[in-house]
Amino acid sequence: MRVSAPILRAQPVSSWSERSLAAVWHPCSQMKWHPEMPLVSIERAEGPWLFGHDGRRYFDAIGSWWVCLLGHRHPAVVQALRDQLECLDHVMLAGLTHQPVVELSERLSAMTGNALGHAFYGSDGASAVEIALKMSAHAWQHLGRAQKQSFVCLAGGYHGETLGALGVTDLSGFRQPYEGLVHAAHVVPNADARRAQPGEDARAVALRQARHVERLFAEHAGGIAAIVTEPLVQGAGGMIFHDPEYLRQVRSLCDRYSVHWIADEIAVGCGRTGTFFACEQAGVWPDLLCLSKGISGGFLPLSIVLSREEIYRLFLHESAAKAFLHSHSFSGNALACRAALAVLDVLEQDQVLAANRLRAKRLSERLQPVARHPRVEHFRSIGMIWAWEVAGASVDFSRRVYRVALEHGLLLRPMGATVYLMPPYLLSDGDIDLLARSVCAVMDEVLA
Ligand SMILES: Cc1ncc(COP(=O)(O)O)c(C=O)c1O
Repeated sequence: MRVSAPILRAQPVSSWSERSLAAVWHPCSQMKWHPEMPLVSIERAEGPWLFGHDGRRYFDAIGSWWVCLLGHRHPAVVQALRDQLECLDHVMLAGLTHQPVVELSERLSAMTGNALGHAFYGSDGASAVEIALKMSAHAWQHLGRAQKQSFVCLAGGYHGETLGALGVTDLSGFRQPYEGLVHAAHVVPNADARRAQPGEDARAVALRQARHVERLFAEHAGGIAAIVTEPLVQGAGGMIFHDPEYLRQVRSLCDRYSVHWIADEIAVGCGRTGTFFACEQAGVWPDLLCLSKGISGGFLPLSIVLSREEIYRLFLHESAAKAFLHSHSFSGNALACRAALAVLDVLEQDQVLAANRLRAKRLSERLQPVARHPRVEHFRSIGMIWAWEVAGASVDFSRRVYRVALEHGLLLRPMGATVYLMPPYLLSDGDIDLLARSVCAVMDEVLA
C-alpha cells in the first residue's frame, strides 16, 4: 500500500488564516502579498454582516463578489433549503427533471413576458457565457451559416475567465497570460457615459458609439455569430455605465445584420440596476440572456441561459448530433434552484425593488461627502450600484482601501482607482447610515 508522505510544517499553525495560506490557493489573489495582508477568516454571516474569527464584524459592501442579493443567510432561503433537503438534493438533468427546476424556468420565462425561455443550466457565470457562445455559433451552423463563428465584445468587457469567456473579455490582466490559448473576439469601443463630449448626454454617447458596432457589422457580419454585452453597467471593467439607448441600438443592428445579441446579466440582473433584468430599461430583449450570481442569493452556484424560441427550435432534430450536447454535472441542481425560487419569492412578496429605490436615494444622499471630495471623480449610481474614481490614485490604492476599510469594519475591494459599492438589498435605514459613515471615514483616511 502506498502511503502519501506527511506534509511537514516548519511551524505549528495557529489560525484559520494561516492554515488557509498554507492549504488554499485563493482566487484573484497574489498569494505573496498575504503575509502582510492577512486573510480575514469568517466564522459566520448574517444580513449584511460577516463575523470574523478575530471577534470583529465586517459590513459586506460588495455582497461577496455581487452574489449576496438579500444579505447572508436570509431566513426564507435557509428554510426553503431545509425543506428541499428533506426531499431531493441533486439529480442529473439529462432524462430526469424535478419541480424546482421546472418552476424556476417557467417563472423566469414569464418574467421576460415569454420573450425568452427554454432555460439551460450551468453552475457559474463563466459556464453560462460558454453555453451562450456555443449556442449562438451552433445555431448559425444549423442555419447553414457555419462561417459565423466569431464574436464581438465591448472594450473593458468582462464575461468570465474560462477560455471561451476570456475570448470575449477585454481586460488584459485576466487575459494576457493566456493570449495564445484564446480565440480572440472583435473588440468595439464601449459607450462609457463618462466620455460625453461638451453638449453630449449619455444617450448621445450611446448613439455615437453604436456606430462602431454598425461599421464592424457592415464589414464582418458574415463571420460574426454574436455580440456579447453587459447591459447598462460593465462591472469588472470598472463600473462603466452606458445609456439604455445603446442596447436599443445593439438590438436593431443585430436584427439588421443577422447577428445574435447575448446579454450577460450575470452581474446586472436580478434587480441590481433597478429592474429585474437590466434590458427591461431599454425595452428590448436579447437572443440569449445569461444569469448567475445573485439568482441563488449567494447560497449555491447556479447559472442560467434563457434563449429565444427560434434558437431553441433549431436544435430539434432526429439526430442526437444536432442537439445542444453541452452538460455540467450540477446543471439545474435542485437545491440551487430552490434557493433561487426563494430569492424570487422574497423579491416579489416584499416588493424589494420598489423599496430599493428609497434605499438608493438615502445612500446616495449620505454619500454626498464622498461625491464632493476634490479628488473624487465621476461619482455615479444606478439601482443598487455606486461607483467613483479617485484622481491620482497610487498603484497600491486598491490594496490600501481594502486594508483601511477592514479596519473600519467594511469589506471593499476597489478595481484599480474605481471604488464601488454593491451591497445586499435588504438594508435598514440604520444599515445605510452606518455604511455611508464607514465609507466616508475610509475615503477620508485614504485620501488624507
Ligand atoms: C458580467 C459577468 N459575466 C460573467 C462573470 C463570471 O462569473 P463567474 O465568476 O461566476 O464565473 C462575471 C463575474 O464577475 C461577471 O461580472
